[in-house]
Amino acid sequence: MAYEQTYLMIKPDAVAGGKMGRIVSRLEDTGLKIERMELAQLTFEQAAANYAEHEGKPFYDSLIAYIVSGPVVKMVVAGEDAVAVCRKLLGATNPAEAAPGTIRGDFGLTLDANVMHGSDSPESAAREIGIFFPA
Ligand code: RTP
Ligand code: MG
Repeated sequence: MAYEQTYLMIKPDAVAGGKMGRIVSRLEDTGLKIERMELAQLTFEQAAANYAEHEGKPFYDSLIAYIVSGPVVKMVVAGEDAVAVCRKLLGATNPAEAAPGTIRGDFGLTLDANVMHGSDSPESAAREIGIFFPA
């Protein structure tokens, strides 16, 4: 067990589709603490920095275009094993494969518009929090 922060982001499809409230409720139900939360339009630079690991992949351009296509909700969530707990709550990357009861499994339909982003390690979380909530 380790106290961690993670970076989460409700993606444009879920914000536009009116799913913010239900997603935030599920996060609160875990007992983790929402430390920061802000509705925002990402800049191209923020999107590119967040997804730098995917640059050059076939889906990169559409991923960036999608994530800047409308407002998102940026969040910092903290607590015991926050990174792994939130990844589990999100479910598999492809909503078609995500288990029922997970956020992607219940609120998503396609791999591109998959409802929510969550940091994949404490190191990624520190990097992403620095991008979206600069000190
Ligand atoms: P995220 O970073 O958004 O939390 O998603 P993830 O860790 O579960 O998945 P990742 O591998 O980091 O991929 C980032 C986003 O790119 C899209 N994707 N498309 N067409 C494809 O093969 C493909 N693979 C990934 C997804 O929208 C994914 O969330
Ligand atoms: Mg990822």
